Order: sequence, then structure tokens, then C-alpha cells
Amino acid sequence: MRIQPPPDLRGRARRDRVMQIVATIGGRWDTVSHWLGKGRPPVTPVNRVLPLTVEEVRREAVAEDVLSLTLSHVDGDRLPDWHPGAHLDLLLPSGRMRQYSLTGDPADLSSYRIAVRSIPDGGGGSLEVHTLQPGDRVSVLGPRNAFPYVRQDAYLFVAGGIGITPILPMVRDAARRGADYRIVYTGRSLSSLPFVDELREIAGYRLWVRTDDEHGLPTGPDLIRDLPAGAAIYCCGPPPMISAIRSVVPVQVPLFSERFSAPPVIGGTEFTVTLARSGARVQVAADESALAAIRRVRPAVMYSCQQGFCGTCKVRVLDGTVEHVNQRPLPGYMNICVSRGQGDLTLDL
Ligand code: FES
Repeated sequence: MRIQPPPDLRGRARRDRVMQIVATIGGRWDTVSHWLGKGRPPVTPVNRVLPLTVEEVRREAVAEDVLSLTLSHVDGDRLPDWHPGAHLDLLLPSGRMRQYSLTGDPADLSSYRIAVRSIPDGGGGSLEVHTLQPGDRVSVLGPRNAFPYVRQDAYLFVAGGIGITPILPMVRDAARRGADYRIVYTGRSLSSLPFVDELREIAGYRLWVRTDDEHGLPTGPDLIRDLPAGAAIYCCGPPPMISAIRSVVPVQVPLFSERFSAPPVIGGTEFTVTLARSGARVQVAADESALAAIRRVRPAVMYSCQQGFCGTCKVRVLDGTVEHVNQRPLPGYMNICVSRGQGDLTLDL
């Protein structure tokens, strides 16, 4: 599920998550206590590699070609705790690393579950995941959480297609705690949506499956029409869906979002990258990332989140000036998915 120089840490055009958190903290002590860690399940540190076995592969949505994978520890060990919104960095046999939200039940640490939509014209990671079979071994880093979920009394959850994956554990938690919540689940058609039956079982009448073939494309007001009083909004889906919501959400309503594609580059300027090892020169257009441009000549270049926080795409800068975006300036390095050059850059690639 983003960038220019961004107006916030994640490049979102309208609101800064930090400011949302501050607003939320200002309004609710129970929210404060959760941000301080009270009532929040402990999550163990994330700099570890877990060896996992694929236990089960299931087809979850025929039209969108979504598979779920259940993963367990190779030695049958209990897996590290996680919190709704967390993801794994999946290290694939090819050396690719991709991030997938945990979409199972945090109360069951005998296995993790992820779901992956096949993207034939993507970077190849999803297609590789779709070749995995029960018994295959994979390594993961994590879990770690870049989409924090705060326990409170009311929510509106909005998911678009595979964006349901981080939302589903949030819904399960809200249901267990008896929170007042609604879910709007959008997509092209019913057959394109994974986990609908599971959601119906958890949420019943609180779930609205809103498909384009029945209702047309959703608008911002459609998506938030059932916003419960005092609710926070958690949404994950394609950038237009999130933008539509942002454009209509009242300013006092906390909004937390995660998109599942690279952010748009807005207000960027052109620059040139020289790949030192081959001497190839790549022109980076004003509206694309250096990563996107470099992938045209180096399709196997490493990346994962495409949002500047995982560090997978970090490369050494041999020459030139970097405009760091979405990352703490790291002298001599840049995350090519979001940071940009001022003029010509030479990278250790
Ligand atoms: S791909 Fe994650 S920081 Fe660039």
C-alpha cells in the first residue's frame, strides 16, 4: 500500500499519523495507556530470522488469485507474539524479500497465516510465493508492526481486496472485546474477495461487502457512511480508496491507513542515476521513484515495502547529493524506493 517530499512521515497528503496519534492521545486515556504499552500484548524484538515450514496452502479468492499460507516453526516451537497490523518479511528462495501482513489469530502462536495475491506484472515476489507447497521451508524476519492498532471502543474498518489482510485480525480483536465496529469490504466482485466467510462469521451484520459490480465504484461518503460515534478509522487498500476516505473524514476522527502499493511521487524533480558496477545511466522521471527507474535495467534489485521503512532497498551512494525522504538521513546511503537525488547520483549497484 505514497511521495514527493511528503507532508508527513509516510508521504500522505492529508494527515500525519503522528498528529493523529497525538490527537487520539489527547482525547482518550485508555488510548494513552495502550500507547504506553498497558493492555497491549508484548511483542518481542524483530531482528531475528525464523525458519518456518509451509503447513497449508489454500485458495481464498478465485477471481483475484489469492492464496493463504499457514506457516509454522520448523521445530514446532511456539512463534513470537504479534499484534494486529503486524507483518512478516518473507525471504524467498530467489533472494527476494516481500512483506505480508499477518492475517491469522494472534492468540494462536502455533502458526502464522499470510495471504498473497498473484500479480503477474509485478516484481515476481507474489508469483514466487504462489509456487510454494506444503513442506517447503522459508525464512522470515519479524513480526514487526508498521500499522499500529490501538484498542478503543469504536471503529470503522475499511478494506479494499487484499487490503483485508491486516484488517482481519483487528476485526477479530474488536469483536472479542465487544467494541462497537463496522467493516466495509470493497472489491470488484464477491469472488475477488478473500476471507468473506470468515468475516461474516466474526462480524455478522457489522460487515458490509460492497462490490463494484453491484454498487459501482465507491465514493468517500459511501465508505464512511456507517462510521460509529467516537470511532477511529482503520483502512487498507488501493491508494484511490484511501484518498477518497481522507477527503471526507472529519478532522477530529483518527484515521490510520496502510496502502499496499508504492506511493505516488508528487512534486518530484528529474535526476540521473549512474550504476557504478555496470556504468549504466538511468533517468529518473519527476513522477517515479529511483527504484522504479532502476528496475527497468536491474529487475532483480532488492526491495520490499516501497515506503521507506524496511531498508531492503538501501544502497551506498558513491557520489551526489541525496534528498532523504521517509527515512532518517543515513550518511552515504539512501533508500532508493523513496529518497531522491539532487542532480546526478552514482550508486553502488
Ligand atoms: S523497499 Fe523498504 S525501504 Fe525501500
